[in-house]
Amino acid sequence: MTIAADYADFGVGEARDVSPAYERLALAVADDDELLALLGTLPAAKRQPNLLFGVVRLLGGPVEDPAEFHDYAVANWPLVAAEMRVRATQTNEAGRCALLLPVLAGLPQPLALLEVGASAGLCLYPDRYAYRYGDHLLGTGEPVLDCAATGLTPPARLPEVVWRAGLDLNPLRVGDPADIAWLDAVIWPEHAHRRARLRAAAAVAAAEPPLLLRGDLVDDLPALAGQAPAGATLVVFHSSVLYQVPASRRTAFVHLVRGLPGHWISNEAPEVLPHDDLPEPPGGARHNVLALDGRPLAWTRGHGQSMIWFGD
Ligand SMILES: C[S@@+](CC[C@H](N)C(=O)[O-])C[C@H]1O[C@@H](n2cnc3c(N)ncnc32)[C@H](O)[C@@H]1O
Repeated sequence: MTIAADYADFGVGEARDVSPAYERLALAVADDDELLALLGTLPAAKRQPNLLFGVVRLLGGPVEDPAEFHDYAVANWPLVAAEMRVRATQTNEAGRCALLLPVLAGLPQPLALLEVGASAGLCLYPDRYAYRYGDHLLGTGEPVLDCAATGLTPPARLPEVVWRAGLDLNPLRVGDPADIAWLDAVIWPEHAHRRARLRAAAAVAAAEPPLLLRGDLVDDLPALAGQAPAGATLVVFHSSVLYQVPASRRTAFVHLVRGLPGHWISNEAPEVLPHDDLPEPPGGARHNVLALDGRPLAWTRGHGQSMIWFGD
């Protein structure tokens, strides 16, 4: 895809109905030859809308009005480009636990959780958050994760987690204000509820920090999996990670994770992690696929806000 097509696709497929500001910006950039030329000077992996918009937000630039955004990004391009080169979209969305929960609750307990591409590790606390699936409430405390679920019998119990570990190329620390500032900057402008959720989930994680290691999801997974306690079900999981991983490494990862003991939960875009036998995708917005051990179970939205269950 061209850079322009990527931005148009993001505007329509991801931001539409979710962030009017980012829909406006993405569609404007798709039509902005000057910004497209500047983006073209960056490595392909560093041109994404979320990265550009997050960096401008981090720097305090305007993200509501496309003309102001253009002027700011062009005038400050050396600074913007430098930040884009060293950062990655590491959005850590605790809301995705509402997607994982029905699968986790159905596995033999207790669980040893190992997340690859964990960012700051906020998805490693599915047992500590509260959930609202329509009228069905589960758990107590904060954050409360709302998920509009269709076709799902919500779990009756929270999972029991006895070990939690994460692997990331660049682990972020919930105790580091600079890391929290970046996680905040990549949250979309209108999403005050997600900003509040980030703070609440970070407090949960800070109270009991996970084992979070710098490493690659292929090279370093076996050693970390080997540290999981005996007597617990090992669950390797990942959400919105494989699009950042080259195709040959994705294949190597899938081969590796299938050979590990325990279970594997994935929540990824279907073009990134293809499945046989997928039902017709819901129309409109882009959906990911939630799967257990390679068996697809549900269509899911990017921030955990909704899911359409089609599995057994
Ligand atoms: C978009 S974030 C998603 C974070 C988290 N899974 C969530 O759902 O909130 C993707 C994360 O994957 C990490 N990542 C990308 N490639 C990786 C690799 N080869 N090995 C480990 N982590 C990787 C990135 O550093 C980033 O923190």
